[in-house]
Amino acid sequence: MRFSQVSLILAAGSTIIPYVSAWGAVGHEVVATVAQMHLHPSVMPILCDILNYKGNCHLAPVAAWADKVRGLPQYRWTAPLHYIGATDDYPSETCAFPGEKGWEGRRNINVLSAIRNTTGVLEDYMDLRKAGLTTESDDDAAQVALKFLIHFVGDMHMPLHLTGRDKGGNGIKVSFDSRVTNLHSLWDGLLIAKRIRTIPSNYTRPLPLPEVETHLRGTIYDPYIRRIVWEGIMGKYEDELDSWLTCPAEPSVQSLQTHWEQWLSWTFGRRIGSWLMGSRLTGGGLNTDDETLCPYHWATPIHALNCQIVFPKALDEPPYNRVSFSGTDNHTCSSSNNTPEVHWTSRPRKNPYLELDTPEYSGAIQDAWIVEKLMSQGGIRLAAILNWLFADMEGSILSNRTWRL
Ligand SMILES: *[C@@H]1O[C@H](CO)[C@@H](O)[C@H](O)[C@H]1NC(C)=O
Ligand SMILES: *[C@@H]1O[C@H](CO)[C@@H](O)[C@H](O)[C@H]1NC(C)=O
Ligand SMILES: *[C@@H]1O[C@H](CO)[C@@H](O)[C@H](O)[C@H]1NC(C)=O
Ligand SMILES: *[C@@H]1O[C@H](CO)[C@@H](O)[C@H](O)[C@H]1NC(C)=O
Repeated sequence: MRFSQVSLILAAGSTIIPYVSAWGAVGHEVVATVAQMHLHPSVMPILCDILNYKGNCHLAPVAAWADKVRGLPQYRWTAPLHYIGATDDYPSETCAFPGEKGWEGRRNINVLSAIRNTTGVLEDYMDLRKAGLTTESDDDAAQVALKFLIHFVGDMHMPLHLTGRDKGGNGIKVSFDSRVTNLHSLWDGLLIAKRIRTIPSNYTRPLPLPEVETHLRGTIYDPYIRRIVWEGIMGKYEDELDSWLTCPAEPSVQSLQTHWEQWLSWTFGRRIGSWLMGSRLTGGGLNTDDETLCPYHWATPIHALNCQIVFPKALDEPPYNRVSFSGTDNHTCSSSNNTPEVHWTSRPRKNPYLELDTPEYSGAIQDAWIVEKLMSQGGIRLAAILNWLFADMEGSILSNRTWRL
Protein backbone atom coordinates (compact mmCIF):
# COMPACT_ATOMS: atom_id res chain seq x y z
CA MET A 1 0.00 0.00 0.00
CA ARG A 2 1.21 3.43 -0.78
CA PHE A 3 1.41 5.97 1.93
CA SER A 4 -1.28 8.19 0.45
CA GLN A 5 -3.74 5.41 0.97
CA VAL A 6 -2.65 4.93 4.54
CA SER A 7 -3.13 8.61 5.18
CA LEU A 8 -6.58 8.57 3.75
CA ILE A 9 -7.58 5.67 5.89
CA LEU A 10 -6.04 7.11 9.02
CA ALA A 11 -7.36 10.57 8.30
CA ALA A 12 -10.83 9.21 8.05
CA GLY A 13 -10.42 8.40 11.72
CA SER A 14 -12.30 5.22 11.17
CA THR A 15 -11.86 1.83 12.69
CA ILE A 16 -10.25 0.59 9.51
CA ILE A 17 -6.80 -0.83 10.04
CA PRO A 18 -4.51 -0.16 7.15
CA TYR A 19 -2.43 -2.99 5.87
CA VAL A 20 0.97 -1.50 5.43
CA SER A 21 3.67 -3.59 3.92
CA ALA A 22 7.38 -3.78 4.49
CA TRP A 23 8.28 -1.77 7.62
CA GLY A 24 5.44 -0.25 5.76
CA ALA A 25 6.25 2.73 3.74
CA VAL A 26 5.57 4.66 6.93
CA GLY A 27 8.29 2.92 8.94
CA HIS A 28 10.84 3.55 6.21
CA GLU A 29 9.76 7.14 5.81
CA VAL A 30 10.03 7.80 9.54
CA VAL A 31 13.57 6.40 9.54
CA ALA A 32 14.52 8.53 6.54
CA THR A 33 13.00 11.67 8.02
CA VAL A 34 14.74 11.21 11.36
CA ALA A 35 17.98 10.67 9.46
CA GLN A 36 17.47 13.80 7.42
CA MET A 37 17.10 15.85 10.60
CA HIS A 38 20.54 14.72 11.68
CA LEU A 39 22.53 15.36 8.53
CA HIS A 40 25.43 17.73 8.39
CA PRO A 41 24.37 20.76 6.33
CA SER A 42 26.77 19.92 3.53
CA VAL A 43 25.18 16.51 2.98
CA MET A 44 21.62 17.12 1.85
CA PRO A 45 22.60 19.08 -1.30
CA ILE A 46 24.76 16.14 -2.41
CA LEU A 47 22.02 13.62 -1.71
CA CYS A 48 19.49 15.71 -3.63
CA ASP A 49 21.90 15.91 -6.53
CA ILE A 50 22.50 12.15 -6.53
CA LEU A 51 18.77 11.52 -6.28
CA ASN A 52 18.28 13.96 -9.14
CA TYR A 53 15.53 15.87 -7.39
CA LYS A 54 13.96 18.72 -9.27
CA GLY A 55 11.47 19.96 -6.71
CA ASN A 56 11.34 19.73 -2.95
CA CYS A 57 14.02 17.33 -1.94
CA HIS A 58 13.36 14.88 0.84
CA LEU A 59 14.62 11.40 1.64
CA ALA A 60 11.29 9.93 2.69
CA PRO A 61 9.79 9.61 -0.81
CA VAL A 62 12.61 7.30 -1.92
CA ALA A 63 12.76 5.27 1.29
CA ALA A 64 10.33 2.58 0.16
CA TRP A 65 11.42 2.55 -3.47
CA ALA A 66 13.31 -0.72 -2.99
CA ASP A 67 10.07 -2.51 -2.06
CA LYS A 68 8.26 -1.08 -5.04
CA VAL A 69 10.81 -2.31 -7.57
CA ARG A 70 11.46 -5.69 -6.02
CA GLY A 71 8.86 -7.37 -8.18
CA LEU A 72 10.26 -5.99 -11.45
CA PRO A 73 12.31 -8.46 -13.48
CA GLN A 74 15.46 -6.34 -13.44
CA TYR A 75 15.34 -6.01 -9.67
CA ARG A 76 14.17 -9.49 -8.73
CA TRP A 77 17.70 -10.38 -7.66
CA THR A 78 17.48 -7.77 -4.93
CA ALA A 79 14.68 -9.53 -3.04
CA PRO A 80 17.06 -11.46 -0.73
CA LEU A 81 18.87 -8.23 0.10
CA HIS A 82 16.02 -7.05 2.31
CA TYR A 83 16.66 -9.55 5.09
CA ILE A 84 19.04 -12.06 6.59
CA GLY A 85 17.82 -15.45 7.67
CA ALA A 86 19.47 -16.45 10.91
CA THR A 87 19.20 -20.17 11.47
CA ASP A 88 19.26 -21.87 14.86
CA ASP A 89 17.52 -18.99 16.56
CA TYR A 90 14.62 -21.17 17.49
CA PRO A 91 13.71 -22.35 20.10
CA SER A 92 14.08 -18.95 21.60
CA GLU A 93 16.39 -19.99 24.43
CA THR A 94 19.29 -20.36 22.03
CA CYS A 95 18.68 -17.34 19.85
CA ALA A 96 21.93 -17.87 17.98
CA PHE A 97 22.81 -15.20 15.44
CA PRO A 98 23.90 -17.22 13.61
CA GLY A 99 24.16 -20.74 14.93
CA GLU A 100 26.35 -23.55 13.67
CA LYS A 101 24.36 -23.82 10.47
CA GLY A 102 25.15 -20.23 9.63
CA TRP A 103 22.81 -18.22 7.52
CA GLU A 104 20.07 -19.14 5.14
CA GLY A 105 20.57 -18.39 1.51
CA ARG A 106 23.63 -17.45 -0.46
CA ARG A 107 26.70 -16.01 1.15
CA ASN A 108 26.93 -12.22 1.04
CA ILE A 109 23.42 -11.89 -0.32
CA ASN A 110 21.59 -10.41 2.63
CA VAL A 111 20.65 -7.10 4.18
CA LEU A 112 23.83 -6.67 6.21
CA SER A 113 26.11 -7.33 3.24
CA ALA A 114 23.92 -5.08 1.16
CA ILE A 115 24.45 -2.21 3.60
CA ARG A 116 28.17 -2.82 3.42
CA ASN A 117 28.14 -3.01 -0.36
CA THR A 118 25.94 -0.01 -1.09
CA THR A 119 28.04 2.05 1.30
CA GLY A 120 31.13 0.87 -0.55
CA VAL A 121 29.62 1.83 -3.91
CA LEU A 122 28.90 5.32 -2.60
CA GLU A 123 32.33 5.65 -1.05
CA ASP A 124 33.98 4.84 -4.37
CA TYR A 125 31.59 7.16 -6.15
CA MET A 126 32.54 10.07 -3.91
CA ASP A 127 36.21 9.49 -4.58
CA LEU A 128 35.54 9.68 -8.31
CA ARG A 129 33.27 12.66 -7.88
CA LYS A 130 35.82 14.63 -5.92
CA ALA A 131 38.29 13.91 -8.69
CA GLY A 132 35.76 15.03 -11.28
CA LEU A 133 35.81 11.63 -12.94
CA THR A 134 32.22 10.45 -12.72
CA THR A 135 30.27 9.33 -15.75
CA GLU A 136 26.54 9.19 -16.20
CA SER A 137 26.49 5.51 -15.39
CA ASP A 138 28.38 6.19 -12.15
CA ASP A 139 25.70 8.74 -11.27
CA ASP A 140 22.97 6.21 -11.98
CA ALA A 141 24.69 3.52 -9.94
CA ALA A 142 25.12 5.93 -7.04
CA GLN A 143 21.48 6.87 -7.15
CA VAL A 144 20.37 3.25 -7.00
CA ALA A 145 22.88 2.47 -4.24
CA LEU A 146 21.70 5.43 -2.18
CA LYS A 147 18.04 4.48 -2.47
CA PHE A 148 18.86 0.92 -1.47
CA LEU A 149 21.05 2.03 1.43
CA ILE A 150 18.30 4.26 2.84
CA HIS A 151 15.92 1.32 2.61
CA PHE A 152 18.18 -1.42 3.92
CA VAL A 153 19.17 0.51 7.03
CA GLY A 154 15.45 0.68 7.76
CA ASP A 155 14.94 -3.02 7.04
CA MET A 156 17.83 -3.94 9.31
CA HIS A 157 16.00 -2.34 12.21
CA MET A 158 12.95 -4.51 11.75
CA PRO A 159 13.64 -7.60 13.89
CA LEU A 160 11.75 -9.97 11.60
CA HIS A 161 14.12 -9.09 8.76
CA LEU A 162 16.87 -10.77 10.76
CA THR A 163 15.43 -14.21 11.33
CA GLY A 164 14.77 -17.22 9.19
CA ARG A 165 12.05 -18.43 11.52
CA ASP A 166 8.77 -18.94 9.69
CA LYS A 167 9.84 -16.82 6.76
CA GLY A 168 10.50 -13.87 8.99
CA GLY A 169 7.09 -14.18 10.57
CA ASN A 170 5.28 -14.09 7.23
CA GLY A 171 4.35 -17.71 7.83
CA ILE A 172 2.63 -17.12 11.15
CA LYS A 173 -0.96 -16.05 11.15
CA VAL A 174 -2.02 -14.09 14.16
CA SER A 175 -4.96 -11.97 15.17
CA PHE A 176 -4.78 -8.25 15.87
CA ASP A 177 -7.89 -6.59 17.22
CA SER A 178 -9.76 -9.72 16.05
CA ARG A 179 -8.48 -9.37 12.51
CA VAL A 180 -6.34 -11.95 10.79
CA THR A 181 -2.89 -10.85 9.82
CA ASN A 182 0.58 -12.32 10.07
CA LEU A 183 3.36 -11.53 12.48
CA HIS A 184 5.48 -9.82 9.85
CA SER A 185 2.71 -7.50 8.73
CA LEU A 186 1.89 -6.73 12.32
CA TRP A 187 5.42 -5.44 12.88
CA ASP A 188 5.65 -3.80 9.49
CA GLY A 189 2.61 -1.71 9.82
CA LEU A 190 -0.14 -2.47 12.28
CA LEU A 191 1.78 -1.63 15.43
CA ILE A 192 2.89 1.65 13.87
CA ALA A 193 -0.58 2.45 12.60
CA LYS A 194 -2.03 1.95 16.02
CA ARG A 195 0.54 4.27 17.55
CA ILE A 196 -0.24 6.94 14.99
CA ARG A 197 -3.94 6.66 15.72
CA THR A 198 -3.44 7.03 19.45
CA ILE A 199 -0.92 9.86 19.52
CA PRO A 200 -1.30 12.49 22.27
CA SER A 201 -3.00 15.51 20.75
CA ASN A 202 -0.21 17.91 21.70
CA TYR A 203 1.85 16.47 18.84
CA THR A 204 -0.57 17.56 16.16
CA ARG A 205 0.82 21.06 16.71
CA PRO A 206 4.25 22.03 15.43
CA LEU A 207 7.12 21.80 17.87
CA PRO A 208 9.02 25.04 18.55
CA LEU A 209 11.96 23.50 16.76
CA PRO A 210 12.66 24.46 13.17
CA GLU A 211 15.28 21.69 13.11
CA VAL A 212 12.40 19.26 13.36
CA GLU A 213 9.56 21.06 11.67
CA THR A 214 11.33 21.95 8.43
CA HIS A 215 11.78 18.24 7.74
CA LEU A 216 8.12 17.35 8.16
CA ARG A 217 6.03 17.22 5.04
CA GLY A 218 2.49 17.57 6.25
CA THR A 219 1.90 13.84 6.45
CA ILE A 220 -0.44 12.00 8.74
CA TYR A 221 2.52 10.67 10.68
CA ASP A 222 4.11 14.06 11.42
CA PRO A 223 2.80 13.91 15.00
CA TYR A 224 4.42 10.52 15.41
CA ILE A 225 7.79 11.81 14.26
CA ARG A 226 7.49 14.83 16.54
CA ARG A 227 6.87 12.49 19.42
CA ILE A 228 9.73 10.17 18.52
CA VAL A 229 12.16 13.09 18.36
CA TRP A 230 10.83 14.98 21.38
CA GLU A 231 10.34 12.12 23.81
CA GLY A 232 12.83 9.69 22.30
CA ILE A 233 15.87 11.18 20.60
CA MET A 234 15.87 14.36 22.69
CA GLY A 235 14.43 12.58 25.68
CA LYS A 236 14.90 9.04 26.86
CA TYR A 237 17.58 8.15 24.29
CA GLU A 238 19.64 11.30 24.49
CA ASP A 239 22.41 9.67 26.48
CA GLU A 240 22.50 6.52 24.36
CA LEU A 241 22.84 8.04 20.91
CA ASP A 242 26.62 7.78 20.94
CA SER A 243 26.49 4.14 21.88
CA TRP A 244 24.19 3.36 18.95
CA LEU A 245 27.06 4.19 16.65
CA THR A 246 29.89 2.35 18.27
CA CYS A 247 31.44 -0.61 16.54
CA PRO A 248 33.70 -3.12 18.22
CA ALA A 249 37.19 -1.87 17.55
CA GLU A 250 39.39 -4.86 17.96
CA PRO A 251 43.03 -3.99 17.99
CA SER A 252 44.68 -5.64 15.07
CA VAL A 253 47.75 -5.21 12.94
CA GLN A 254 45.68 -3.61 10.24
CA SER A 255 44.03 -1.13 12.53
CA LEU A 256 47.46 0.33 13.28
CA GLN A 257 47.57 1.43 9.68
CA THR A 258 44.29 3.18 9.84
CA HIS A 259 43.56 6.70 10.65
CA TRP A 260 41.03 8.11 12.98
CA GLU A 261 38.51 10.65 12.02
CA GLN A 262 36.44 12.39 14.53
CA TRP A 263 34.01 15.11 14.10
CA LEU A 264 31.04 16.88 15.41
CA SER A 265 28.10 15.62 13.62
CA TRP A 266 25.27 17.93 12.79
CA THR A 267 23.07 16.28 15.33
CA PHE A 268 21.32 18.98 17.20
CA GLY A 269 24.75 20.07 18.28
CA ARG A 270 25.66 16.70 19.65
CA ARG A 271 28.47 14.48 18.73
CA ILE A 272 26.97 11.33 17.41
CA GLY A 273 29.99 9.39 16.56
CA SER A 274 33.63 9.02 16.11
CA TRP A 275 34.63 6.80 13.33
CA LEU A 276 37.63 4.83 12.51
CA MET A 277 38.25 3.93 8.94
CA GLY A 278 39.97 0.66 9.04
CA SER A 279 40.21 -3.01 8.95
CA ARG A 280 37.31 -5.28 8.27
CA LEU A 281 36.15 -7.52 11.05
CA THR A 282 34.19 -10.62 10.35
CA GLY A 283 30.90 -10.00 12.06
CA GLY A 284 28.98 -13.26 12.20
CA GLY A 285 31.20 -14.70 9.50
CA LEU A 286 29.75 -12.17 7.10
CA ASN A 287 32.74 -9.92 6.67
CA THR A 288 30.47 -6.92 6.93
CA ASP A 289 31.80 -5.12 9.97
CA ASP A 290 34.67 -2.82 10.59
CA GLU A 291 35.19 -0.11 13.16
CA THR A 292 33.28 2.41 11.10
CA LEU A 293 30.30 0.53 9.84
CA CYS A 294 29.17 -2.56 11.69
CA PRO A 295 25.73 -3.70 10.58
CA TYR A 296 26.18 -7.14 12.09
CA HIS A 297 27.12 -5.71 15.48
CA TRP A 298 24.15 -3.32 15.37
CA ALA A 299 21.80 -6.06 14.22
CA THR A 300 22.65 -8.52 16.96
CA PRO A 301 20.54 -6.98 19.77
CA ILE A 302 17.76 -6.26 17.28
CA HIS A 303 17.70 -9.90 16.29
CA ALA A 304 17.52 -10.86 19.98
CA LEU A 305 14.18 -9.07 20.20
CA ASN A 306 12.73 -11.92 18.15
CA CYS A 307 13.39 -14.29 21.00
CA GLN A 308 12.52 -11.82 23.75
CA ILE A 309 9.25 -10.39 22.54
CA VAL A 310 8.50 -10.50 18.82
CA PHE A 311 7.56 -14.19 18.74
CA PRO A 312 5.13 -14.59 21.62
CA LYS A 313 5.77 -17.64 23.79
CA ALA A 314 2.22 -18.85 23.22
CA LEU A 315 3.18 -19.68 19.65
CA ASP A 316 5.38 -22.45 21.06
CA GLU A 317 2.51 -24.16 22.80
CA PRO A 318 -0.73 -25.78 21.73
CA PRO A 319 -2.96 -24.83 20.11
CA TYR A 320 -0.94 -22.14 18.36
CA ASN A 321 2.25 -24.07 17.76
CA ARG A 322 0.68 -25.79 14.76
CA VAL A 323 -0.57 -22.60 13.14
CA SER A 324 1.66 -21.98 10.22
CA PHE A 325 1.04 -21.55 6.58
CA SER A 326 3.22 -21.24 3.59
CA GLY A 327 3.27 -17.80 2.19
CA THR A 328 3.87 -17.27 -1.48
CA ASP A 329 6.70 -14.91 -0.70
CA ASN A 330 9.97 -16.28 0.56
CA HIS A 331 10.32 -14.65 3.88
CA THR A 332 10.59 -11.03 2.84
CA CYS A 333 7.91 -8.50 3.47
CA SER A 334 4.89 -8.93 1.36
CA SER A 335 5.67 -6.73 -1.54
CA SER A 336 3.36 -3.81 -1.99
CA ASN A 337 2.97 -4.83 -5.61
CA ASN A 338 1.45 -8.21 -5.13
CA THR A 339 -0.23 -7.98 -1.76
CA PRO A 340 -3.90 -7.36 -1.87
CA GLU A 341 -4.88 -4.48 0.29
CA VAL A 342 -6.60 -5.78 3.32
CA HIS A 343 -8.83 -3.53 5.27
CA TRP A 344 -12.07 -4.23 6.90
CA THR A 345 -15.05 -2.07 7.39
CA SER A 346 -16.72 -4.42 9.78
CA ARG A 347 -15.39 -6.68 12.43
CA PRO A 348 -15.00 -10.24 11.23
CA ARG A 349 -16.07 -13.24 13.24
CA LYS A 350 -13.72 -14.47 15.90
CA ASN A 351 -10.75 -16.09 14.26
CA PRO A 352 -8.77 -19.02 15.60
CA TYR A 353 -5.42 -17.26 15.78
CA LEU A 354 -3.50 -15.88 18.71
CA GLU A 355 -4.73 -12.39 19.56
CA LEU A 356 -1.85 -9.94 19.91
CA ASP A 357 -3.61 -6.66 20.51
CA THR A 358 -3.35 -7.29 24.21
CA PRO A 359 -1.75 -5.52 27.17
CA GLU A 360 0.81 -8.35 27.39
CA TYR A 361 1.88 -8.08 23.78
CA SER A 362 1.14 -4.85 21.90
CA GLY A 363 0.75 -3.01 25.20
CA ALA A 364 4.16 -4.11 26.41
CA ILE A 365 5.78 -3.27 23.07
CA GLN A 366 4.18 0.14 23.20
CA ASP A 367 5.13 0.86 26.80
CA ALA A 368 8.73 -0.10 26.17
CA TRP A 369 8.81 2.07 23.03
CA ILE A 370 10.34 -0.83 21.13
CA VAL A 371 9.22 0.12 17.65
CA GLU A 372 9.99 3.79 18.22
CA LYS A 373 13.44 3.00 19.51
CA LEU A 374 14.18 0.83 16.48
CA MET A 375 13.15 3.58 14.10
CA SER A 376 15.19 6.13 16.06
CA GLN A 377 18.23 3.88 15.85
CA GLY A 378 17.66 3.39 12.14
CA GLY A 379 17.43 7.14 11.61
CA ILE A 380 20.50 8.01 13.68
CA ARG A 381 22.61 5.29 12.08
CA LEU A 382 21.51 6.21 8.60
CA ALA A 383 22.40 9.85 9.29
CA ALA A 384 25.79 8.85 10.63
CA ILE A 385 26.53 6.71 7.57
CA LEU A 386 25.46 9.49 5.21
CA ASN A 387 27.46 12.09 7.15
CA TRP A 388 30.46 9.82 7.03
CA LEU A 389 30.10 9.31 3.29
CA PHE A 390 29.19 12.81 2.20
CA ALA A 391 29.91 15.49 4.79
CA ASP A 392 32.40 18.11 3.77
CA MET A 393 34.01 18.49 7.14
CA GLU A 394 37.15 20.27 6.08
CA GLY A 395 35.46 22.95 4.09
CA SER A 396 32.92 23.65 6.74
CA ILE A 397 33.46 26.08 9.55
CA LEU A 398 30.03 24.96 10.64
CA SER A 399 31.52 21.76 11.93
CA ASN A 400 32.75 23.66 14.93
CA ARG A 401 29.53 25.39 15.72
CA THR A 402 27.56 24.11 18.63
CA TRP A 403 23.95 24.15 17.88
CA ARG A 404 21.84 23.72 20.93
CA LEU A 405 18.14 23.42 20.79
C1 LIG B 1 28.84 -7.58 -1.93
O1 LIG B 1 30.11 -7.65 -2.48
C2 LIG B 1 30.69 -8.94 -2.44
C3 LIG B 1 32.10 -8.83 -2.87
O2 LIG B 1 32.20 -8.06 -4.03
C4 LIG B 1 29.88 -9.86 -3.29
O3 LIG B 1 30.42 -11.15 -3.24
C5 LIG B 1 28.47 -9.89 -2.76
O4 LIG B 1 27.67 -10.67 -3.60
C6 LIG B 1 27.91 -8.51 -2.65
N1 LIG B 1 26.69 -8.59 -1.92
C7 LIG B 1 25.64 -7.88 -2.24
C8 LIG B 1 24.50 -8.00 -1.30
O5 LIG B 1 25.59 -7.16 -3.19
C1 LIG C 1 2.87 16.06 25.12
O1 LIG C 1 2.21 15.50 26.22
C2 LIG C 1 2.92 14.47 26.88
C3 LIG C 1 2.05 13.96 28.01
O2 LIG C 1 0.88 13.45 27.46
C4 LIG C 1 4.23 15.01 27.41
O3 LIG C 1 4.97 13.97 28.02
C5 LIG C 1 5.03 15.59 26.29
O4 LIG C 1 6.21 16.18 26.78
C6 LIG C 1 4.21 16.63 25.54
N1 LIG C 1 4.98 17.05 24.39
C7 LIG C 1 5.14 18.32 24.07
C8 LIG C 1 5.88 18.61 22.85
O5 LIG C 1 4.71 19.23 24.74
C1 LIG D 1 12.18 -20.24 -1.03
O1 LIG D 1 12.92 -20.94 -0.07
C2 LIG D 1 13.09 -22.31 -0.38
C3 LIG D 1 13.85 -23.00 0.75
O2 LIG D 1 13.89 -22.23 1.88
C4 LIG D 1 13.87 -22.41 -1.68
O3 LIG D 1 14.04 -23.78 -2.03
C5 LIG D 1 13.14 -21.69 -2.77
O4 LIG D 1 13.92 -21.69 -3.93
C6 LIG D 1 12.87 -20.25 -2.37
N1 LIG D 1 12.04 -19.59 -3.37
C7 LIG D 1 12.34 -18.41 -3.87
C8 LIG D 1 11.35 -17.87 -4.82
O5 LIG D 1 13.33 -17.79 -3.54
C1 LIG E 1 37.41 23.86 16.35
O1 LIG E 1 37.71 24.73 17.41
C2 LIG E 1 38.85 24.37 18.15
C3 LIG E 1 39.07 25.34 19.30
O2 LIG E 1 37.87 25.98 19.60
C4 LIG E 1 40.07 24.37 17.23
O3 LIG E 1 41.21 23.95 17.94
C5 LIG E 1 39.82 23.43 16.07
O4 LIG E 1 40.88 23.51 15.17
C6 LIG E 1 38.52 23.79 15.34
N1 LIG E 1 38.24 22.77 14.34
C7 LIG E 1 37.85 23.09 13.12
C8 LIG E 1 37.56 21.94 12.22
O5 LIG E 1 37.71 24.24 12.73
